[in-house]
Amino acid sequence: MSGRVTIVIAAILCITAMTLLYSSASEKETGTPADKRIARGKQLVIEGNCDYCHTPLVETNEGLVPDMKRRLSGHPRDAEIPRLPANEIGSPEWIEFLGTLDTTEWAGPWGLVFAKNITPDPETGIGKWTEEIFVETIRTGRHIDLKRDVLPPMPRQDYGKLGDEDLKSIFAYLMTVAPVRNAVPKPVPLPGKKSGE
Ligand code: HEC
Repeated sequence: MSGRVTIVIAAILCITAMTLLYSSASEKETGTPADKRIARGKQLVIEGNCDYCHTPLVETNEGLVPDMKRRLSGHPRDAEIPRLPANEIGSPEWIEFLGTLDTTEWAGPWGLVFAKNITPDPETGIGKWTEEIFVETIRTGRHIDLKRDVLPPMPRQDYGKLGDEDLKSIFAYLMTVAPVRNAVPKPVPLPGKKSGE
């Protein structure tokens, strides 16, 4: 190896080492409390499996997969609203009906409920919510704007046990996901029951 090549390689190694040192230093600088909160929120959203109910599925060659273009945007507005069976809950017709629902729509004694849009879209998501509204909604299980309870199966009792800092972290992270415009339909009460909305 010629002396010149050695010098060039040594220079490259030196630059690489300096870049690494610099980036780890700047990472420390940008690892602000706000960044840490968002990272914690992301972890809780993944562990809490929010996508399971709040992200619609899309048909692909590999079968049904979460549609990341519509991540966390709730039950799609344009999907046909299934008709609730008039038969008793638990009847074979009900069981059959439940099998036709996707993961963004859920039926039970509370009627038919659709997972909401929890992206930061201001009109159809939670973009106008404050951190306080978010924490309060999860804690109390009351929709502040809709003036009704948050219906099952939203596991708000479980999430309500999280500390304020964790709930604020979830909210901070949700505010960083891509806003998706999707006005989720209102819940449908059981036949003969009144709607709360
Ligand atoms: C088992 C399904 C399920 C899971 C898992 C789930 N949700 Fe929900 N969520 C729902 C449903 C259904 C609703 C709509 C309830 C209603 O209309 O009252 C909802 C409503 C909400 C609302 C109220 C939004 C609004 O506009 O009123 C928020 C906020 C929310 N979910 C956040 C979350 C977060 C954050 C997670 C994960 C940590 C999560 N959800 C996990 C089913 C789920």
